[in-house]
Amino acid sequence: MIVPRWIQTRDDAAMVKAATQLFRSHFGEDPEGVWAAPGRVNVIGDHVDYAGGISIPFALKANTAVAIRRSGAPNYRVVSLAPGETEAARVDIPINEVGPGNPNSWAGYVVGAVWAAIEAGVIHCAEGLDMAIVSDVPVGSGLSSSAALECSAALGALELASGRKATDAERSALVDACIRAENEVVGASTGGLDQRASLYGEEGKALVIDFQSGNTELVPFDLSGHGLALLIADTNAPHALNDGQYASRRGVIDEVTAACDANTLREVDNAVARAAAWAKTEGKDVEVTCKRVKHVVEETDRTARAAQALQADDLVLFAKLMRDSHESLRDQYEVVTPELESVFQAVGERGSRMTGGGFGGSVITLVAEEEVEQVAEAITKAAEEKEFPEPTFMVATPGAGARRIA
Ligand code: GLA
Repeated sequence: MIVPRWIQTRDDAAMVKAATQLFRSHFGEDPEGVWAAPGRVNVIGDHVDYAGGISIPFALKANTAVAIRRSGAPNYRVVSLAPGETEAARVDIPINEVGPGNPNSWAGYVVGAVWAAIEAGVIHCAEGLDMAIVSDVPVGSGLSSSAALECSAALGALELASGRKATDAERSALVDACIRAENEVVGASTGGLDQRASLYGEEGKALVIDFQSGNTELVPFDLSGHGLALLIADTNAPHALNDGQYASRRGVIDEVTAACDANTLREVDNAVARAAAWAKTEGKDVEVTCKRVKHVVEETDRTARAAQALQADDLVLFAKLMRDSHESLRDQYEVVTPELESVFQAVGERGSRMTGGGFGGSVITLVAEEEVEQVAEAITKAAEEKEFPEPTFMVATPGAGARRIA
């Protein structure tokens, strides 16, 4: 018998308790406060953020929580219990050793974000920090566990140092600092979608982010009015965004953009034709270059139409655009793995797509509320037949962005 496995998430009170306990057991004192930041799901608009495109993510109700205390010491001491782990990992690092390339492990997201925010002049704190982290955001699932780490740590360090809530301007500066940490400290050339979703998310709302204008608009996202749920299937085929695959996709887009003398691909007229001409002159693979550029151009257009469909409450159109998006990520951008495709095929004609960077991770599907269990079973069965890892599931509704929880 097939019984789907569900990802457990805890409420704020349980996260505070777990982070505080971890803090006490490692540092022997109470933290000064606890902050949380969510993972995110991107509903549509993938691999367009670094090209000035449009994305529609929302913040998950799965959070990372960090308990923090200023230590007065010249180092950061960070302990972290990843989801499903029983042993905490710990890193102690002198403040002055944090910077580009160091540490380039999970701890780089944490102390790297604090470092980048100090560098940007948005956090004023020269002393060491003790931090204990617990998380419900699955790692390597395309649900932005890294942004949740960065944003909880950076917001916590900022609000602790200032003694007050972060202003809008400070949140915006933290977005940039967290992106910088990811790019320069950990070496993942990601684009900024995740950090915005984690810092700007709101309960019940999705975000329409236009990376060209910099505008982020909060829009109601309530599927239950349509009797639908958003089912996340984590394939548990882990992905890493600093292993060169992500960078190779982004590299093509950045090169074409630079060759067209533009700041973003979005600004380039006739981008596909110009990419073809460039690839030919440079001796690059013309077909591959055109496919990559075509995805970015079409995905941005598709996401703009998806935003209109949401506004018009047209979920039939929205579902179709999701499927088109998946097919483009599969056929043009080539970031869909067999495990992701297995989920997409198993859900039939429903609105469904891979979410996030791809190369592993999760697929989201619009499912009638009463069919959630049955669809999860079908996805599990398909994975079992192909001898893929067993997927795990979550029904996602939009939750709050990064905030102090104790
Ligand atoms: C990852 C990156 C984001 C974005 C997505 C794809 O999540 O961190 O910046 O590029 O992939 O949309």
